[in-house]
Amino acid sequence: MPETAFHLRLRPATFEDAEMVADLQTLRDPQEPSDPVLLRYWWQMTDALEKSMRQVAEHDGAAVAYIGSQHELWEPADQRFGLLRPILRSDLWSSEGYAELVAIGENWLRLEGATTAVARVREDFQNDIEALAKIGFRENRRMRTSELDLVQRRDEILRTLTDCREEMQREGVRLLPLSKDNDPDKYQKLYAMFIESEKDIPTTVPWRVLTFPEWRRFWLENPGIREDRFWVARAGDEIVGTSVLDCPVVRGIPWTAYTGTSRSVRGRGIARALKYESMAQAIEAGYTRVRTTNDADNPSILRINNQMGYRLVAPILELHRPLG
Ligand SMILES: CC(C)(COP(=O)(O)OP(=O)(O)OC[C@H]1O[C@@H](n2cnc3c(N)ncnc32)[C@H](O)[C@@H]1OP(=O)(O)O)[C@@H](O)C(=O)NCCC(=O)NCCS
Repeated sequence: MPETAFHLRLRPATFEDAEMVADLQTLRDPQEPSDPVLLRYWWQMTDALEKSMRQVAEHDGAAVAYIGSQHELWEPADQRFGLLRPILRSDLWSSEGYAELVAIGENWLRLEGATTAVARVREDFQNDIEALAKIGFRENRRMRTSELDLVQRRDEILRTLTDCREEMQREGVRLLPLSKDNDPDKYQKLYAMFIESEKDIPTTVPWRVLTFPEWRRFWLENPGIREDRFWVARAGDEIVGTSVLDCPVVRGIPWTAYTGTSRSVRGRGIARALKYESMAQAIEAGYTRVRTTNDADNPSILRINNQMGYRLVAPILELHRPLG
């Protein structure tokens, strides 16, 4: 009989456990290796900017089960969502064990005052999806994780980059990495553009607007993010767009962490041009593929990605359950 989480002896996870939990995550899809340095950083940021709980169970020095729960610092008017991330290694997987992990996460969320539990799970992780449905989780939204093959699409990307550069010149828009921008107010301007544009990402679960110091720490102290790979678009004195890659430190593949443009400049090809600069730079750096996750209800970014040649890896289901 498979061992359940009840027997797994979960204990609180520390930052030191990020390495073994990254290994556990990697086992789920070796094509998407989880970077322990970035995972540790995400945990640190979650603790600094939100509230969270993490538990891990290990066997023979390896993590076999993990449950993480977190929630925003809710504003009084917010509906109180909390996120769950249960993982049970496939050789020990059982619906009872998985349900036990979910229950531990949900109990913590309930004590915190959350009203809805949310789990985001790849559609091809069929066992997890079925177990969550059995517990009462229902689909609320869909995202798409997609991948761009930088080897196969190389020539096309570099050709279109030239067209984008000509178009941006005609538009009077300058694209450059943040590291080459000499404006002393560049971070404040970039922050203002982020805060405006991120409000337009389709979402059910609201997030708190970060203060400038929080935002700066979150984006610029990330070990996977470099200012020479942080593309910005300038129109006159303003920063009107960005596209930024989150690159692995120890292992894994680069991800586009964010692409956004100011509302006043949308539809002029600026986001597309930024993404082509970013992809050309990834090719130059020797990366062979890049991934991104977008909401399925975000037609403009999906159009850009489809034109670039991104291919679906897997839909992500966002499942909700009222905590009652
Ligand atoms: C997504 C976003 C970056 C696009 O910026 P943009 O500067 O308008 O993008 P571009 O002008 O380069 O290209 C947009 C493309 O989408 C198309 N588009 C716009 N609305 C569309 C719709 N409803 N359906 C289909 N295509 C649409 C445009 O026509 C254009 O394609 P085309 O040039 O082939 O005609 C911008 O809308 C934004 O900041 N949104 C909020 C942040 C966000 O959601 N980021 C992405 C996820 S992290």
